[in-house]
Amino acid sequence: MAELQEVQITEEKPLLPGQTPEAAKTHSVETPYGSVTFTVYGTPKPKRPAILTYHDVGLNYKSCFQPLFQFADMQEIIQNFVRVHVDAPGMEEGAAVFPLGYQYPSLDQLADMIPCILQYLNFSTIIGVGVGAGAYILSRYALTGLTSSISEMILGHLFSQEELSRNSELIQKYRNIITHAPNLDNIELYWNSYNNRRDLNFERGGDITLKCPVMLVVGDQAPHEDAVVECNSKLDPTQTSFLKMADSGGQPQLTQPGKLTEAFKYFLQGMGYMASSCMTRLSRSRTASLTSAASIDGNRSRSRTLSQSSESGTLSSGPPGHTMEVSC
Ligand code: BEZ
Repeated sequence: MAELQEVQITEEKPLLPGQTPEAAKTHSVETPYGSVTFTVYGTPKPKRPAILTYHDVGLNYKSCFQPLFQFADMQEIIQNFVRVHVDAPGMEEGAAVFPLGYQYPSLDQLADMIPCILQYLNFSTIIGVGVGAGAYILSRYALTGLTSSISEMILGHLFSQEELSRNSELIQKYRNIITHAPNLDNIELYWNSYNNRRDLNFERGGDITLKCPVMLVVGDQAPHEDAVVECNSKLDPTQTSFLKMADSGGQPQLTQPGKLTEAFKYFLQGMGYMASSCMTRLSRSRTASLTSAASIDGNRSRSRTLSQSSESGTLSSGPPGHTMEVSC
């Protein structure tokens, strides 16, 4: 009787002639846990997530995923997606050996590096493909609120994804301040309280709304712009000056202090705290242009309107009809 033997079959179906692998581009980004390298194949497809892979221990993206991603039948799938293949630190081809005593990132920290990669690429959604340790890392990442480092979550609250991916000097400065804050544990407590906040339950015309004058400012590229617009819709329009600031992200006081100062002056003037002669002088003496600086809620029926005409470069404040020139 013939003996049954286990035979291991490696399925081989390489790319067909004419099917060439797409060009790859390798990048490195700095993260709070050191730099990470990843290789991007294909081009981003509108409204589609990226496929992001994470390899197992002892492998890198190529040794782990090349046979799968270059399998002929796989092409009709992956051609519809941009692919981001992450190499765990020090696993990329040609990586230098880490110095003695180097503290390798924990799997949680490796998961926390993923948002930095996505921010760099400006990708917001992914389909994760992980093997072994890579599957653990991607699962950690998918449990986002629990995995993303507190500092990255806070940065995502403070700044828009666009600002974070541009990674300007300001972002680098604030990432550095928050990541290395000696009181990060205290910041986390404040963050937790913020996340457990109660709804303010404002209602326009209802009992619960602010009765005092309010100046509400939001950058037009702020991460929570919609929430601020909604808040404005619930406030008393006769008491509220709403300013949506152009070319501004999550922190207008950092990125547009001049425009904000100007707006604040008019708000104070509307309350009678600054003489209009002083305002005119201050406004005229300023050098920065406010033209195209702000788009304003155009509710003309309000008694307090902080507004700016982008055509004429004029600002009006307080009682309607009081208009000031702004040097542009
Ligand atoms: C890809 O096309 O995504 C790919 C190509 C080579 C190795 C790994 C992935």
